[in-house]
Order: sequence, then C-alpha cells, then structure tokens
Amino acid sequence: MNRITQKVINSNLRLLHIITNLPVCTSCGSQKHHRYFHSMNVKSGTKGNFRIHDTLLHLTTPKRGILGGSLSSSNVGCLVDRWTNVFKNRKISEPKESAEYIIAHVQGSKMFHEIDKSSFLTAAQHKKMEELCLRRLDKEPIQYLLGEWDFCDMTLDVRQPVFIPRPETEELVELIQQYLKTRGLENSALTILEVGCGSGAIAIALLKRFQKATCTSIDRSIDACELTTHNAVKQKVKDRLNVVHLELNKDTVEVHPEFTCTERYQLLVSNPPYIPTKDMTKLQPEIDLFEDPCALHGGLDGLDTIIRTLHIASKVLQDKGFLWLEVDSTHPAKVQRLLQDNKELNLHYVQTYQDFNKLERFCQIQKHLPV
Ligand SMILES: C[S@@+](CC[C@H](N)C(=O)[O-])C[C@H]1O[C@@H](n2cnc3c(N)ncnc32)[C@H](O)[C@@H]1O
Repeated sequence: MNRITQKVINSNLRLLHIITNLPVCTSCGSQKHHRYFHSMNVKSGTKGNFRIHDTLLHLTTPKRGILGGSLSSSNVGCLVDRWTNVFKNRKISEPKESAEYIIAHVQGSKMFHEIDKSSFLTAAQHKKMEELCLRRLDKEPIQYLLGEWDFCDMTLDVRQPVFIPRPETEELVELIQQYLKTRGLENSALTILEVGCGSGAIAIALLKRFQKATCTSIDRSIDACELTTHNAVKQKVKDRLNVVHLELNKDTVEVHPEFTCTERYQLLVSNPPYIPTKDMTKLQPEIDLFEDPCALHGGLDGLDTIIRTLHIASKVLQDKGFLWLEVDSTHPAKVQRLLQDNKELNLHYVQTYQDFNKLERFCQIQKHLPV
C-alpha cells in the first residue's frame, strides 16, 4: 500500500495517533510546542492477539521479567531500546514512541528528550513501567496509559472508553476560531451548543479562546459527560459550560428543555460518530478494543448522528447562526445534497474545508430563516 493510500485510510477510519517527541509533526508539517503524533498502521479486522493474562505469563521468572535481563542494571536509554524491541517483536505500532513516552511518564516528564538517558529508574518506577508496557502489549492506546493527552494548547485527562481527541479536531477548532475572529465575534457573548462532547476537547478549547462564550455540551455517554466536567473544572471554564447527559434522537429533540427553546444558539459544533458500518470491522485493535463504539459508529452510511444534528441545528440555531461538522471525507457532498433536498431545514451549505491530509473533512453550514 502506498503512502498516500495509507494516509487516506488512516484519516477515514479516524486512526489513533500516537505522540512522539519530534519537533515537527511528520503528518502535517506544522511546528507545535506540545506532544506530537504519528498515524498508526491499519490492521484490517485485527483484534488483539493476546490479553493481559497472556502477557503476564512472560513475567513469571522473578527479577528477570519480560525483558529477560536484570532490569536494575539498565539505564533509561537501554530500557527504552529493550522495550522498543519487545514492542517491535509483538508488532505493536509506534514501538519506539510507546517505550519513550511510557518511560518519560514514569519519570514524571512529558517528553523523552527531557529526561536523562543515563539515569536509572527506582524499583517503584520499574514496576510502573512494566505494568504500563504490558498494557501497551495488549494494544491499549498510549493516551489511556498516560491518562492524558494534548489538545490545542491544553493537556486533557483521557479515560477509557471515552473517545481520545484527534489532531484533525484541533483543525476544526482553529477553523471556527478564524471564522469568529474575522467576523469580529471574539469578545461577544457567544452561545454554543456541542453534540457529542467526549473528553470536552472542542467545547473547552473554544471556551478558553472566547472568554465571554458559554456552551452547552451533550453526550449520550455518562463517562464522557463526567470526563468533560472534570476537564472543564481543571481548565477553569466549568462556570461557562453546561454538560447534559442526553442522547440526541428524534424524541429528545422534541421534548428536552435544551431544545424546546428555538433559535437559542449562535454556533453548533459537532464531531459526531461517522464511521459507516462496513468500515467498523477495519478499525485497528487500539480503537476496536478500547474506545466506545458509540463514539465511532455512525450507522449504515455514517450519517445517522449527522442527520440528527442537522435537524437540531435547524431548530435551535439563530438566524445566520453556524453549524460546523467534522465528518468522513465522503460526507460533505452527501450533506450538501441533503440540504438541497430538504430546504425546509433553512440550512445552507457554505463551504467544505480540508484537513492536513488534504481530505474534505469539515463542513460549514449557515442557517437562514426565510424573509
Ligand atoms: C467522535 S466522539 C467526539 C468527542 C469529542 N467531541 C472530540 O472531538 O474529541 C463522538 C461523541 O458523540 C457521542 N455521541 C454519539 N452519538 C450521540 C448521540 N446520538 N447523542 C449524543 N451524543 C452522542 C459519543 O458518546 C462520543 O462521545
């Protein structure tokens, strides 16, 4: 498979991204000051081949462990090399980065380059490192192992099974920010609704950028609602964020107090589940085994939640309010057609934006009430 095809598949399947300590992101070329990622490889339909109890079998030799040597005599640099080899042999994606980030984490750092390679771990750090590496051998995403992940300019807590924020979504936030700035709305009391908050990444990033904005975020998952609330408190925006545990479906749209009031919001944003059913079997094991499928699966053609979001946008957006969506690259054309065929929604397709892989991933839609 060539590199371009690989990238297309990666993005379409929302592949998990792993951080590295490279100064420049190899996918988008952008320079960032926080942690970076590479895309993991696609392993169609592969499930984790061994679970934690299998890997533990390798640890039954006291003191020698899975690395097969004396651990206390190995410095940090050697330990990373040895774990990298174990990961490579077990076909764990991003083997080196996985080992580096785990060892940096157990030493209390974010970046491997910040730590002294000639230093030694304490016994407690060795134990923690081995525990995390075993979980990585079971294909657990590095983000869940670390318990945190960088998004925009923040470090958010992440917890299984809540969706791990992806770098494409940072682009969505940036697009919204640019649009609001060009319209001179930075300092206005913006009213935002978010469908599907996950870890709270989008809502919290927007609230931090727009100090007078308020946001209501809904999610069908109680884990997601709790994590969003937790992250909002940590990021000091909870006073402007209303988190509602609610599944968006036809009935809730009609009866929930959030939605009975029409024309309430100026901005609706969503990164909904959008993977079509046929692609759900192609997810890499890190996603398939650990992330909530309800955060990923968008129904037969991936459009289920998108269509519900269009209906709610038609109702709750103010005249000239905007809807921004992150979608699969096959969706913008379909969404455009849907709006043409359903003029009663009063939603007008404005523009599609590409992500850093040059895929059409973001839809900008505006509500226009008839004059
Ligand atoms: C792809 S995740 C996006 C999470 C976060 N906004 C982000 O970008 O990182 C989609 C989220 O939508 C939630 N969700 C899925 N269907 C939903 C529905 N019908 N109503 C409300 N939330 C839904 C999932 O629980 C999940 O947290």
